[in-house]
Parts: sequence; structure tokens; C-alpha cells
Amino acid sequence: MEHQTTKFTKWLLFVGLILSLGLSACYKDNEEDLYPDNGESCNTENVSFSQTIEPLVNNNCLSCHSATNTSGGVRLDSHSAIAEAATNGRLLGAIRHEAGFSAMPQGGKLPDCAISQFEAWASQGALNN
Ligand code: HEC
Repeated sequence: MEHQTTKFTKWLLFVGLILSLGLSACYKDNEEDLYPDNGESCNTENVSFSQTIEPLVNNNCLSCHSATNTSGGVRLDSHSAIAEAATNGRLLGAIRHEAGFSAMPQGGKLPDCAISQFEAWASQGALNN
């Protein structure tokens, strides 16, 4: 009898494990969870250069916009260079894929949240913060 109960408990645990794995896999497949870009999870208040903007540029832009590879004459390897591109409108035009600008990053588009963060940072004065 006791042996039976143990087996049943193990079976329950096993089924529970499989179910929760399955459920969490579906949950993770949800696009909004993978690429949060809704108002709730996209923080555009007090966007910091060092915490948000610089990592975005380093990961998405720097390979083509550094001193060694200055595509289109655009360098994005310092705060002052990024701030200039952000405040003269070229950077925002490019990442929003606006007409009249070369769409950036080449061959793709940043998540909406990242674009909003660039816009927020520029409108907050493109600070070196
Ligand atoms: C794979 C290479 C590559 C990547 C990655 C890349 N760029 Fe560019 N970018 C280019 C090239 C090449 C040009 C110039 C030729 C052109 O205009 O298409 C350019 C031009 C630009 C311009 C000038 C656009 C204009 O119309 O005035 C800006 C601003 C710019 N890039 C910003 C960015 C930003 C911001 C990122 C990252 C989000 C980025 N780029 C990522 C290759 C790249």
C-alpha cells in the first residue's frame, strides 16, 4: 500500500514537471515576453546613456560605425558622436526607417522599445549619464 502511494506520488510529480515545462515553453514563445515593447515593460523614463544607449549602440551599430569601419562617415564610438547623431535627427530617422534616411541597423530593425529609448534619451537632452 505504502509502496503504491510512493509510486503514485512520483508519477504525479513527473506529470506535473512535464506540464510545467510544457506550459513555460509556450509562455516563452509569446513574442511580447521575448521582445517586451509595451508601455508596461519598456522603460523610457530617465534613459541613461551608460546603462541603455551605449549597450544598444555597441551591440547593434558599432561593428559598422567605429574608427576602423566608419560606414557612411558616421562614427558612433563616443558619447559626443552618438549625441550629435541623435540630436541632428539622422540617427532617429535611420532607426525609425524614415523616408530619406538609410534604414539602420543595416538589414534589420531594432525592437520598438529600443527605438523609444533612443527617442526618449534624445528628447531628454542626450545626456552623458
Ligand atoms: C552592417 C553594417 C551597419 C550596421 C550594423 C549599422 N549601420 Fe548605419 N550605416 C551603414 C552604412 C554602410 C551606412 C552608409 C551607407 C548608407 O547610407 O546606406 C550607414 C549609415 C548610417 C547613418 C546615416 C544615415 C543617413 O541617411 O543619414 C546613420 C545615422 C547610421 N548609419 C546609424 C546607425 C545606427 C544607429 C546603427 C545601429 C542601430 C547602425 N547604423 C548600424 C552600415 C551599418
